[in-house]
Amino acid sequence: MNEMTLPRPNNLDSFWMPYSDNRYFKQNPRMLVRAEGMSYYTSEGREILDGTAGLWCCNAGHGRREITEAIQKQAALMDFAPTFQLGHPIAFEAAARVAEMTPAGIDKVFFTNSGSESADTALKIALAYHRARGQSQRVRLIGRERGYHGVGFGGMSVGGIGGNRKQFGAMLPYVDHLPHTHDLARNAFTKGQPEHGVELANKLEDLVALHGAETIAAVIVEPVAGSTGVLVPPKGYLQRLREICDKHGILLIFDEVITGFGRLGTDFGADRLDVVPDIMTMAKGLTNAAVPMGAVATSNEVYDTVVNSSPEGIELFHGYTYSGHPLASAAAIATLALHQEEDLPGRARAIEPYWEEAAHSLRSAPGVMDIRTFGFIAGIELTPREGKPGARAMDVFRRCFDEGVLVRVTGDIVALSPPLIAEKPHVDRILGTLNDAIHAIA
Ligand SMILES: Cc1ncc(COP(=O)(O)O)c(C=O)c1O
Repeated sequence: MNEMTLPRPNNLDSFWMPYSDNRYFKQNPRMLVRAEGMSYYTSEGREILDGTAGLWCCNAGHGRREITEAIQKQAALMDFAPTFQLGHPIAFEAAARVAEMTPAGIDKVFFTNSGSESADTALKIALAYHRARGQSQRVRLIGRERGYHGVGFGGMSVGGIGGNRKQFGAMLPYVDHLPHTHDLARNAFTKGQPEHGVELANKLEDLVALHGAETIAAVIVEPVAGSTGVLVPPKGYLQRLREICDKHGILLIFDEVITGFGRLGTDFGADRLDVVPDIMTMAKGLTNAAVPMGAVATSNEVYDTVVNSSPEGIELFHGYTYSGHPLASAAAIATLALHQEEDLPGRARAIEPYWEEAAHSLRSAPGVMDIRTFGFIAGIELTPREGKPGARAMDVFRRCFDEGVLVRVTGDIVALSPPLIAEKPHVDRILGTLNDAIHAIA
């Protein structure tokens, strides 16, 4: 289909756009109508190179025939069936595929429809686990400053990005936060994991001293914090968190919504960072974003404890109408097959050194105060304009889009995460366009 024959809206009023400047957009719409491989195409037929895999999710690139056909086939066979007290084979197969990929011992998979639902599901499972062990006083949930775990009340409460919280009142009680690990003074322009900051994990001991370990259910962190603008964990930090959690019987949850499915050059962040959590959340790359789907993978111990402690009947009073939706399951199976056949993590690993050098070559561009890279991710932090936080990066975003490259900005940080199929010329174009834009708007 030609772009010009695709449907266009004649009314932009009704759609209340998420996380958007609705008023600006509706005056200056940027409409994407088609996607293929590494690129989007606009309603004017312009090609936009995707520097962000959509929203960190189209890891295998766009319009993958294998995934599309699997969805079409499943839609024709069975559009929907409940998974409450009933099953359909494809959901079990999708769960088994995920369990094959997660670290050993993390073999149970609960399906959701998004990263936000995965975060809230993981927190609920953690509470149910402690209750099942007779420790129902463990209700406290520990997140981290600058963490992002989606927009449900659970994820928002443990999340630590002020802007996501301030409109919404009191949130969950019994939540506390670890400090974030961003330390420009010691770690600016680090390639890979920063040298400094392992001691920040010891702050968990301070929270234990403050609240009592017997009140703490779980700690949730992103292995690499993405949405806040790419914060890579200092060397040894996650290992230390794991040790402290073990010492005090606290569950460790990794939010792998962006680090899962190859982004760090391994199946999961847990693999690259060599720390196995008790519970992992995921979404995005699970289906290559072709159909919404999220998942929570838990240790066998967590599952067995919850399931076996329950009297006969439903063991966990939680689930979504669309948990294990047939179309999403079909998309997940096809995506995970592609992930393996094309060795997407291997591709990310192979391009990482080139990516790292290319990203760090922007170091001398005007107003660049930090660059951080890890796996196939880069965060480029700009000095905010006086009294106008975020404005400089937003100008960069718009300029890049006009020049044919999609980047993502959060505050004054440009976050890059191309599809894992990207090759060196794509890297050159993404970072070349970004460099020009930073110079142009300086
Ligand atoms: C780490 C993390 N958790 C949760 C979410 C929320 O996912 P969703 O937007 O699918 O609800 C995101 C989204 O970017 C994320 O990066």
